[in-house]
Amino acid sequence: MIQFILVIKNSKFIFNKIFSISKEFALDRGAEQINHEYSKYQFFFRTFAPKYSIKNMKRIQIINGPNLNLLGKREPSVYGSRSFESYLEELKTRFPGVVLSYFQSNVEGELVNKLHEVGFEADGIILNAGAYTHTSIAIADAIRSITSPVIEVHISNVYQRESFRHHSYLSQVCKGCIIGFGLDSYRLAIESFL
Ligand code: DQA
Repeated sequence: MIQFILVIKNSKFIFNKIFSISKEFALDRGAEQINHEYSKYQFFFRTFAPKYSIKNMKRIQIINGPNLNLLGKREPSVYGSRSFESYLEELKTRFPGVVLSYFQSNVEGELVNKLHEVGFEADGIILNAGAYTHTSIAIADAIRSITSPVIEVHISNVYQRESFRHHSYLSQVCKGCIIGFGLDSYRLAIESFL
């Protein structure tokens, strides 16, 4: 009886635990692509809690461009003192029902390649192209070429900064732009896709 009461009392915790294990199984860790081989483990969720079935989850890709690997160390007065990795953990906890993938590169062509790779499957892409925002026709063309909607984000309010940051090659080809809310810009972008 006591065990039964304990199970009921901790049911939310147990549900979350089963859910995260089953989500891990259903994802191929490296690419974070859904691995249909393992989606049978999702039977419980598909049947009893469809909202939590991986099939019905939004797949959102975050792509960060140059120098954003240094968040936390880079100009903390502009970008804050938190690393993106630690913020990403918070986002994953906050949005358990989202398959959230992360990619960062300092190389323009790698950002183009990633957009090609995920841009026909992801339900949404959140792109902070860093300084390439202001220079890259190649990234703008990549966004034009794919079908997934892209949100342009910036941590700082670029319009309060140097004038060369006021022009973006990307804004006109993105679904929307979220600018100047610190790291919270990424959360707002995720919410815009839900
Ligand atoms: C930035 C703004 C860009 O102008 C700058 O080059 C960055 C970061 C931002 O998130 O505020 O690298 O994209």
